[in-house]
Amino acid sequence: MTAVAEPAAIPQVPGRLPLIGHAYSMWKNPLEFFQKASAQGPIVKLWLGPKLAYLVSDHEMLYDILVRKAKSFDKGMQFDRARPLLGNGILLSEGDFHRRQRRIMQPAFHHTNIASYLDIMRSAAEDVFGGWEDGQQVTMYNMFYELAVRIVIKALFSTDMAEQDIAEVYRSMPTVISGVERRAAIPPALLDLVPTRSSKEFHAAVARLRAIGTRIVADYRARDIKPSNDLMALLFTSRDEGNELMTDKQIHEEFMTLLTAGSETTPSAMGWTCYLLGKHPDVQERIQAEVDEVFPDGVVTAKGLPKLEYTRRVVHESLRLYPPVWALGRRTAEEVEIGGHLLPARTQVFYSIHAIHHDPKVYDDPERFDPDRWKGERAKQVPRSAFTPFGAGVRNCIGESFAWTEIQAVLATMLARWTLRPVSNAPVPPVAMGALVPGPLPMTVVKRTR
Ligand code: HEM
Repeated sequence: MTAVAEPAAIPQVPGRLPLIGHAYSMWKNPLEFFQKASAQGPIVKLWLGPKLAYLVSDHEMLYDILVRKAKSFDKGMQFDRARPLLGNGILLSEGDFHRRQRRIMQPAFHHTNIASYLDIMRSAAEDVFGGWEDGQQVTMYNMFYELAVRIVIKALFSTDMAEQDIAEVYRSMPTVISGVERRAAIPPALLDLVPTRSSKEFHAAVARLRAIGTRIVADYRARDIKPSNDLMALLFTSRDEGNELMTDKQIHEEFMTLLTAGSETTPSAMGWTCYLLGKHPDVQERIQAEVDEVFPDGVVTAKGLPKLEYTRRVVHESLRLYPPVWALGRRTAEEVEIGGHLLPARTQVFYSIHAIHHDPKVYDDPERFDPDRWKGERAKQVPRSAFTPFGAGVRNCIGESFAWTEIQAVLATMLARWTLRPVSNAPVPPVAMGALVPGPLPMTVVKRTR
């Protein structure tokens, strides 16, 4: 048996303040705080007020948490803070109930269904890119955000959601996501004690989004829904072991969960990829050559997508450098050994996917943008657990294939028609807004002649 050290052997992050511990530094700038904390070691101790927590930045330990010892963890505090919006939806639910909900929703994410979403993705993308003018400046991240909201609504909920509702989701979601993020460091009861502007805005935005969800569920309930692999049909017609249908409340919570998870992440991936293409015009040209070869008429098809090998390597590298879900956490359900350390029960364990993706022990020259590290033998050298933008184990991302299809379809549709040029050569620092985002990201779009 391997010797197990006491938790005292784990270094503590410097800067612990009386009463609040590290909560303020983490609340103020979570990315910077986690980056500095990760530099102290593969597992470090920190304090949220009087509560002990850990931060893990090592891929083997992460694999223990998410896969090998997943049963010893539940989702924990960070996720609890999202309950005002997501309730007991699939991202937050646990155990048998989670397994059942996942089984019910899985067919909507099966690759045969995803191929049918491609038409929606392509036509939503063509609408946006067809409206651009040569030399126009576009705020790329904002544009992708609006596009992703539209795609997830039309593909997964096949609803003719009113334009004003789509605009409302686009307006309110960032306020909610950043509110949830901040609530990870400071107990909500404390944040709401003083009704600050940001806490009032958070609650108002949650209420607006919930109202949209309530309206859509009521709208569906009034229809005659036939069983099919459409997500809403699965939610409304599937029965549990006791032959019960899902309640409207549960459907509402699943709707809000998928809307949130599906609209927050892909824009980050597409935004960062465009930022990197602006910095590396040679890579952009190579992608354009590949897109032109696979789709000579610029119309993306499901059959052609797997042929975009180089494009996929570039997106891979972008997801490594800028993982949209850059840090998450779990809570120990019982005492558990991680990396030779015994962690007590009921303790929050954060993990930094960002730190693992930049670990020099795994990645040669980790800050370098090098899409070819994902080619052939080189790619095989990277341990699976060292690249986890979509998580791992039973709680991995149900929308991974949906996301890959959307990212490739949107980027290929755009790059078949436009070349992107940065408006400035200054580096864009990542901002942790729930997802890791590049800010609005203005770029100039130049029309291609083909
Ligand atoms: C680049 C895009 C995306 C990234 C990086 C991403 C990342 C992740 C990660 C890391 C998790 C695991 C959370 C955990 O371990 O606690 C997750 C879960 C999840 N994702 Fe994604 N995601 C993306 C796109 C999507 C899309 C497009 C959808 C839906 C349309 C989606 C729906 C979900 C859901 C429902 C879960 C919870 C699964 C469960 O707990 O069973 N994601 N995602």
